[in-house]
Amino acid sequence: MPPTSPVAVLDFGSQYTQLIARRLREHHAFSLILPHDTPLAELRRRDVAAVVLSGGPASCYADDAPQLDPAILEADLPVLGICYGMQLLVHALGGGVRQGSEHEYGRTRIALDTTDPLFRGLPPETTVWMSHCDRVLEIARGFRSIARTPGCPIAAVRHEHRPLYGVQFHPEVSHTPEGGWMLRNFLLEVAGLRCDWTPSATIETAIAEIRAQVGERGRVVCGLSGGVDSAVVAVLLQRAIGDRSSCIFVDNGLLRAGEAVHVQQTFSGQFGLDFRCVDAAERFLERLRGVTDPEEKRIRIGHTFIDVFTEQARSIEGARFLAQGTLYPDVVESTAPHGGPTARIKSHHNVGGLPERLGFELVEPLRHLFKDEVRRIGDELGLPPEITRRQPFPGPGLAVRIVGEVTAQRLEILRAADAIVLEEMRDSQWHDRVWQSFAVLLPVRSVGVMGDRRTYESVCVLRVVESEDGMTADWARLPHELLARIAHRIVNEVAGINRVTYDITSKPPGTIEWE
Ligand code: XMP
Repeated sequence: MPPTSPVAVLDFGSQYTQLIARRLREHHAFSLILPHDTPLAELRRRDVAAVVLSGGPASCYADDAPQLDPAILEADLPVLGICYGMQLLVHALGGGVRQGSEHEYGRTRIALDTTDPLFRGLPPETTVWMSHCDRVLEIARGFRSIARTPGCPIAAVRHEHRPLYGVQFHPEVSHTPEGGWMLRNFLLEVAGLRCDWTPSATIETAIAEIRAQVGERGRVVCGLSGGVDSAVVAVLLQRAIGDRSSCIFVDNGLLRAGEAVHVQQTFSGQFGLDFRCVDAAERFLERLRGVTDPEEKRIRIGHTFIDVFTEQARSIEGARFLAQGTLYPDVVESTAPHGGPTARIKSHHNVGGLPERLGFELVEPLRHLFKDEVRRIGDELGLPPEITRRQPFPGPGLAVRIVGEVTAQRLEILRAADAIVLEEMRDSQWHDRVWQSFAVLLPVRSVGVMGDRRTYESVCVLRVVESEDGMTADWARLPHELLARIAHRIVNEVAGINRVTYDITSKPPGTIEWE
């Protein structure tokens, strides 16, 4: 269970719902995303201390508009409606919401009533991010306007006597520079919350939960990938149940230079885990022989992983539980209306299909947390920065960065180029500023000249992207000197590559990986 009384974010289908939840946590309020029609009784059951109504694409006066349980507005719970959330609040309490004469979109100057607790400590005029067609034209009884923009005289409202607030703009986005302060004011000044939650407070809760779930004698198997999520899970397990947890690390031969050794040293050495490394490199290579189709590669790698992992897990006597690093964005139980971005309910298994196949019960101690929170917990647990600050690395590994057939020789070439990219990114302090930075090997050869000799070697692509969550991305504007150094080193130090190009495709329409 959550460690403190949470703030519920009711999801009306905004693309920013998760961002709202994260912003609240940055102010040390534990947040939970719940479906928009969650009844008051359920909020009470979860001991919810305040409610935020997200934005959403609908019009609140439409017949099929997503609604909230009206009892929530009568329950004396502090409520902050954002955009659609504000319109819904006002509409539900008798105000008038209609389509405005013009669409207000983007940065807008706003005048605030700074005597109100929501805007306490802010300048009387600032900038906010607006994105709406509908607007409140007639305020509901008992409410008053506390902010105005040139195009919207009712840009924020409050109830005279009850803790009900609405803002037409989006305080959660970075384009609203004072938005963080407004959310903080809502939590502290309006809702009067203590706001003492921190991600590390969840360490003890997670440990207690693992113990409760696994019992006195249960054994747990944990798949370690070398990434931060599974690493944190492994260390939490060790703390919770000691040697009744076993970690299985499958070395598929598709990892980056030195990675398998580093993971092994970290976990069996420093953390003293029951760490079982399976060297399955040859088996994977064999299954990939002659395969060039990207999907076929992924399927074969996935199946081989399951085979290898299953064999290992079965050899651990009495193991009935499987731990994995599922994160909050993967388990948000949302039923966003109108197919909004949060409508998808996915059950994400890092080790796809394994629990069903092995008949294991899942242990998911990170299921309340966002990625950055897991990183912080990892730091606190003493994991090295190479693991907690590791960039995302796809399950199929370097195989999806070798366009064409994966062979031992091509893996060696890519590994060498990739190691140079990583080293230069780290040395220049760019590594932690981007989402991912890596090399891709193409099945294309080009003519070059080295010394006085003509060369005819492979082309390597440098891919460096910035992204918030991997769903969209843009290529990183790296300094030319850094690009030059990386290209120079790869061509000079890696036998088999004589040309380096830089990928300047955004996502969409491209993807981050090449396959
Ligand atoms: P794409 O290439 O689809 O990748 O733009 C988006 C993000 O997901 C990562 N990725 C994967 N991660 N297993 C994973 O765990 C996979 O099969 C996989 N494929 C892509 C990719 O590195 C990027 O961060």
